Amino acid sequence: MDRLYLRAAGTSLLLDLRDGDVRVAHWGADLGDQAPDPALVSGSAPHSAFDDPAPVSLIPQPARAWRGTPGLAGDRAGRAFSPRLVVQDASLEPADGTGGQRAALVLRDEASALQVDVALTLAPGGLLLVDQTLTNLGADDYAVAALDVSLPVPAQATESLDLTGRWAREKHPQRHRIDQGTWTRSARHGRTGHDSTLVIAAGTPGFGWRSGEVWALHLGWSGDHTSRIERAGDGQTLLAVGELLKSGELVLGAGESYTAPTAFAAYSSHGLDGVSAGFHDWVRGREGHPSTPRPVVLNTWEAVYFNHDLHVLKSLADAASDLGVERFVLDDGWFLGRRDDTRGLGDWFVDPDMWPLGLTPLIDHVRDKGMQFGLWVEPEMINQDSELAREHPDWIARPAGAHGRTSPTWRRQQVLDLVNPDAWDHIFERLDALLTENAIDYLKWDQNRDQVELGHDGVASTHAQTLAAYRLFDALRAAHPNVEIESCSSGGARVDLGILQRTDRVWASDTNDALERQTIQRWTQLVLPPELVGAHVGPSTAHTTGRTHALSFRAITALFGHFGIEWDVRGLTDAERTELRAVIDFYKANRSLIHTGRSVRIDRPDESDAAYGVVSHDRSRALFVYATLATSPNELSSRLRIAGLDPDARYRVTLGLPLDEHAIAHRSLPHWLTSDEGEVVVTGRVLAEIGVPLPGLYPEHALVLALSQVE
Ligand code: GLA
Repeated sequence: MDRLYLRAAGTSLLLDLRDGDVRVAHWGADLGDQAPDPALVSGSAPHSAFDDPAPVSLIPQPARAWRGTPGLAGDRAGRAFSPRLVVQDASLEPADGTGGQRAALVLRDEASALQVDVALTLAPGGLLLVDQTLTNLGADDYAVAALDVSLPVPAQATESLDLTGRWAREKHPQRHRIDQGTWTRSARHGRTGHDSTLVIAAGTPGFGWRSGEVWALHLGWSGDHTSRIERAGDGQTLLAVGELLKSGELVLGAGESYTAPTAFAAYSSHGLDGVSAGFHDWVRGREGHPSTPRPVVLNTWEAVYFNHDLHVLKSLADAASDLGVERFVLDDGWFLGRRDDTRGLGDWFVDPDMWPLGLTPLIDHVRDKGMQFGLWVEPEMINQDSELAREHPDWIARPAGAHGRTSPTWRRQQVLDLVNPDAWDHIFERLDALLTENAIDYLKWDQNRDQVELGHDGVASTHAQTLAAYRLFDALRAAHPNVEIESCSSGGARVDLGILQRTDRVWASDTNDALERQTIQRWTQLVLPPELVGAHVGPSTAHTTGRTHALSFRAITALFGHFGIEWDVRGLTDAERTELRAVIDFYKANRSLIHTGRSVRIDRPDESDAAYGVVSHDRSRALFVYATLATSPNELSSRLRIAGLDPDARYRVTLGLPLDEHAIAHRSLPHWLTSDEGEVVVTGRVLAEIGVPLPGLYPEHALVLALSQVE
């Protein structure tokens, strides 16, 4: 076999297997029915001293004339530093039950006694999954330094995109021109990280949401990792992702294996929306993807913080239920000694002073109202001021052995050494007991610090700790399959497809400021479909920024996600209550569309506003949000060109929610809005080409358009 050819949903992958190597001759647009001759796409001899053409291998190796970052790195006490992998076996089959295709390759270097098993799965929606397992076939130890997934992008990809951020400001895009050299985003947080990029992407110049070719790579891993774009001196360009391993962290004994985290690769011929479509389709096709309507949440954090009082919380639950809330989540502050964020982590017993009758009276109250009950936990952490730390100081993960120095604290907390089986068993037993003894439907599972210097027995343990945390999630889910879990990590510091294999949504950010959320949610949803992204209506003045926003803007911003509230709704005015109720009703009526449809983002002429929506797969219905983010440079109000619709179908366009009159910046409204019907009927083609005129909105306001096909 000299080639492997996979194709799905406008994407194809051609692997050139000549010379015992695996070279990615093509990853990108569909090349048609017939696998092209790899010789055609593999290029000619480069202008270098190497005598043969050196197209880059799937696992780039110096032994295959690659002078950039190797895909596999490690050694046996200095030896076996440069493997030359040769294909032993290659096959192509339908992927199990998914309708996709799966190529399996076995690569081996006899001299280095190393084997790499590679599986490339092309999902029906075009997302490519790459799984690699390295096995030590030798008798002595092999220390792994890196096993990355690398994929080439063609020369026309000249612009890069990645995301960065910080606490309460996650997932902000940054772009660069791709020049020779390496652009690396390293995440050494011991968790995914606030600044970690969801994807490393390359595209044709100026690629947007709906235009340009784009190639993007994501790593499904919640520990240290690297993402990079490397353009070599010969012009070949690679995207690469992989786990970052510290020295001594991963040593394979004879016969042992290391399975690298799955890498996810998306190609789109039509901008970032195509990248999202590949990810969203795959995520939604998973067996464990949430299939019930995403309930309206009320989370108590910004309403009461640590001031837990049964009476107050019951009245909060009453107010929530009155609004139509379906899940009530008790946040931090319920367990032993937890009066503030300096103590108590590790003591997962209901605090008898705060909760003399346990959680049951609140849980019963919540459930009597027909709501689910959720509880906040942070199982991977320990405060030094806790019974657990006093009893088991050696359970704190430390860089220099069980009794050595501790790492710098963060929010006064340390990391519980889950690699220690006793600590792991203890924490499993506590969580299992909590879930068994209380009627809990949902855990908000937090992880609130960067885990630098993680160590177990004096050896770096980020890799092992990440796997131990995964095992904890998996074991609890197996024991309590009906409990949903949210991945929170000081907001959005653990958002990746590794954690999402064992959780049901993410908390995208600790900011509930709608303006900040516009950016954070848009870019989180580059990879995650809206139903997995927690989005709450916060108080009028945001606790994280001090900005004040109208309820309409806050609520519309929370609509395109898993909707909730994080606000003391006991004190609402009548007008606020009526408005919030109407939005909740609208969310309930439309969540099946928002949570299953195709995400569409509009490329706008400038950055003073944003427009995005969701279109049902049969294109018969759509919802779009238009949000102003800043003052417009133009006097005239906008037209919104709407993409993603059927050009030949006619759509009725109306306001989805009443226009907030305080949002309107110009006295003259577009004619269709002031007409008796308050609607316009127009074809998808006209909507895409000319668009619909909109009222001018003051900055930091929004409106919703509802579209439905008419005969
Ligand atoms: C983190 C979370 C918040 C909240 C607090 C509680 O910061 O991101 O949502 O749960 O912890 O301490």
